[in-house]
Amino acid sequence: MSALKILVIPGSLRIGSHNAKLAAQAGYVFAQAGVDVTRISLGDFSLPIYDGDLQSRSGVPKNAINLKRMMAAHHGVLLVTPEYNSSVPPLLKNAIDWVSRVQDPHEIRGQVFRERPFAIASASEGRFGGARALAALRLILSACQAIVIPNQFALSFADQAYDDMDRLRKEADIEGLKALVRQLIDVSQRTM
Ligand SMILES: Cc1cc2nc3c(=O)[nH]c(=O)nc-3n(C[C@H](O)[C@H](O)[C@H](O)COP(=O)(O)O)c2cc1C
Repeated sequence: MSALKILVIPGSLRIGSHNAKLAAQAGYVFAQAGVDVTRISLGDFSLPIYDGDLQSRSGVPKNAINLKRMMAAHHGVLLVTPEYNSSVPPLLKNAIDWVSRVQDPHEIRGQVFRERPFAIASASEGRFGGARALAALRLILSACQAIVIPNQFALSFADQAYDDMDRLRKEADIEGLKALVRQLIDVSQRTM
């Protein structure tokens, strides 16, 4: 059997992003488990705000097709989202919207989500750690017919959660992240 491949996508481009740090920590946990892990930046797949007229005129942008193919080349995907006004920030939602419109030859539209494993995590400086964004993201991915694993991880008080090497300080946070990683590995192995 080929090595399990997992893609990690942080939903923030901000310098010093709490979510990018969490995505990096998740990457280390996957690597320690022997997973072939890829962590990308949505900054390398920049996309215009979804516009049906633009799609009619010019088709789906190349970056959306590239992002879709990147997702398809992995057995599972971890999305790490900030919370904006109790929901998923436009950067990540827009990427999902465009990718859901991609239709490669011999595929149905949005096939990269269908019955494929996704895990979700969030980080915010607040008490709830972005849990409302996770609820919104779970709904979005479920509507795309993804398998969203039951476990999820919300990192509260993210501004105090990392040490000066950007590692998680608290054992409870480390264990929460590891549990999420383990479940995505399990589900991805069963569906690969
Ligand atoms: C427009 C906007 C709305 C926000 N709404 C929320 C919110 O509803 N809940 C929350 O916990 N944090 C909220 N925040 C704070 C973000 O969680 C915080 O900026 C976080 O650091 C962003 O993630 P990042 O560090 O990965 O960039 C909001 C920030 C912005 C810019």
